[in-house]
Amino acid sequence: MSGDQIIIFDTTLRDGEQSPGCSMNTREKLEVARALVDLGVDVIEAGFPIASPGDFEAVSEIARTFGDRTTICALARSLDEDVQRAKESLADAQKRRIHVFLATSAIHREFKLRMDKKEIVERAVRSVQQAREFCDDIEFSPEDAARTELDFLCEVVERTIEAGATTVNIPDTVGYATPSQYYRVISCLKERVSNIDRAVISTHCHNDLGLAVANSLAAVEAGARQIECTINGLGERAGNAALEEVVMALRTRADYYGCFTNIHTERLYPTSHLVSSITGMKVQRNKAIVGQNAFAHEAGIHQHGVLQERTTYEIMKPEDVGFVGENLVLGKHSGRHAFRDRVRQLGFDLSEDALQQAFDDFIALADKKKEVYDADIVALIEHRIGDVPERWKLISFHTSAGSSSVPTATLELQCEDQPVICDAATGDGPIDAVFRAMERIMELTARLEDFSVRSVSRGKDAQGEVRVIINVNGRQYQGKGVSTDIIEAAAQAYLQALNKADNDRRSQLPQTSTESLPASP
Ligand code: KIV
Ligand code: ZN
Repeated sequence: MSGDQIIIFDTTLRDGEQSPGCSMNTREKLEVARALVDLGVDVIEAGFPIASPGDFEAVSEIARTFGDRTTICALARSLDEDVQRAKESLADAQKRRIHVFLATSAIHREFKLRMDKKEIVERAVRSVQQAREFCDDIEFSPEDAARTELDFLCEVVERTIEAGATTVNIPDTVGYATPSQYYRVISCLKERVSNIDRAVISTHCHNDLGLAVANSLAAVEAGARQIECTINGLGERAGNAALEEVVMALRTRADYYGCFTNIHTERLYPTSHLVSSITGMKVQRNKAIVGQNAFAHEAGIHQHGVLQERTTYEIMKPEDVGFVGENLVLGKHSGRHAFRDRVRQLGFDLSEDALQQAFDDFIALADKKKEVYDADIVALIEHRIGDVPERWKLISFHTSAGSSSVPTATLELQCEDQPVICDAATGDGPIDAVFRAMERIMELTARLEDFSVRSVSRGKDAQGEVRVIINVNGRQYQGKGVSTDIIEAAAQAYLQALNKADNDRRSQLPQTSTESLPASP
């Protein structure tokens, strides 16, 4: 590989998790972190430890599990207690970074922080020094940098590098920048900050105007050497720059950018799928790189061209990003070995127990369905990933519905090894009746905020995947289920979401987000 390396800093677990409805529990975060390590990201921003005990626990677990392989980063406001908490969460990581931020733009100084420029510089310097006592790898972000006066931005950057920052991140916090303007900001820092060679310049672009990827790439042209991004472009509001897009742009146009990344691009599609499945945030079909249609040629003239010579209309190969189409794979008589090989090829690294579980699910599916596709297997495996331990299990259900009868559901649920509870309810339809019966048994009241069904593969006997988002006491939970029976898939999805709510009811975890905390002082 030639040219400069672009450091890929993934913030799916921090900024990405701040997307509405995308919060993850520690197990889910560990699954995503494992996928990010396999993908080859250089830095994982694992969370914001001061935000909640749950966030602290997740960062600590990720640091402990993966901190010898990838740099694990914890976010902190420029406050002593934040930096202290970040240090504690990273204690077990060999490779660690503290990311300190403080807003610098006039709007934030006046209305959010009520601090003048001098106080901002002093506080930023102090917290970078405090973080530097703990580790050598320190990132500083002047929040809302893209709207900060250039003179002041240069001053803050110079002073924080002097204090020990090794990466200076230039966030376009509100997605206001345009590519040429952002290019000028980075160029200006390179020209005017006397010690800029002692730090890596980083980009962190939000997508409010749909320019996050373009702005990040413009910054690379100007000399930035780290890109902060998220899988599927998750993040606050319209999200952050999508990792898969910046990486494939740099790779496909290496002739132009002259840079490379350490990303194993064939892991992009499976990672995107996993994150979508865990967060419940669907990927639009025509999304660049990882959308279902990203490699589909519909027009006859295109199909003809691709058959003659694929580069006529294809600038990337589906296999370069690990795209899984609708390949017919295995049948009922395929053995465990063939199944294990296919699972590996699809990018999953399962423990023996998880593999056995997936194989049992596969055999049960192959009994119901003649043809099993790659997508079916991916759905079966992902369905089990990141589940909270299920206290409540679905033992059986029965529904009845019709044009002239009241839809009714009878359900049997079991909580751990207690006696099975049976109850019934009516509803607007059989699915609604199942949901109501479940809530009665579990003594939880939920509001259904989103319900979606998609077919996992082809054919009338295709599996249906149901995703739900419910709201319990102001907090959102998502669940998913897969089955050839859509009512069963809906029941699994609702039960998974209710199990998460039940878990929180028992442990009373608060929400995590930079938004839910007061700004620095
Ligand atoms: O968008 C932003 O400014 C951030 C900072 C915390 C880097 O997410
Ligand atoms: Zn951000």
